[in-house]
Amino acid sequence: MAVLTILPASNPLVHKKSKRVAKIDKTIHKLLDDMVETMRAAGGVGLAAPQVGVLLRVIVIETPEEGVIELINPEIIKAAGEREVEEGCLCLPGYIGKIKRSLGVKAKGLDRDGREVRIKADDLLAEALEHEVDHLNGLLFVDHLENIDDLRKLETQPAD
Ligand code: CO
Repeated sequence: MAVLTILPASNPLVHKKSKRVAKIDKTIHKLLDDMVETMRAAGGVGLAAPQVGVLLRVIVIETPEEGVIELINPEIIKAAGEREVEEGCLCLPGYIGKIKRSLGVKAKGLDRDGREVRIKADDLLAEALEHEVDHLNGLLFVDHLENIDDLRKLETQPAD
């Protein structure tokens, strides 16, 4: 396993749309392993492949309640409600912004063995799923800011 370099928001790759994974092979397994290690090293809640320069629809999330979730070709199939959150991103260290996320989501995707996984989530996990799937579409949380004043600089780094 290896800790990969997380690209900054200034890198054009993180604003591109990622492609679906056609075949889950050893390369994808290694990518998942490296992404989990990279997310942990950075102290993040989630990581999407384009953040490490790989334009494939692959995400990893780790929360204290759920442990590690690895999803290939993830999709948000249902989103309900709305809440305001303060969100950060490993591509934009030192900043958090106030944006709106869903209260709950239903998501689906494939695990590393190609089996379909369905997840019903709320709170932090719902937020993380929306945040990481956004990355696959080239979107960062700052793209959801209604007002640039809703972005603020932190003394410490965000963990998202
Ligand atoms: Co992010």
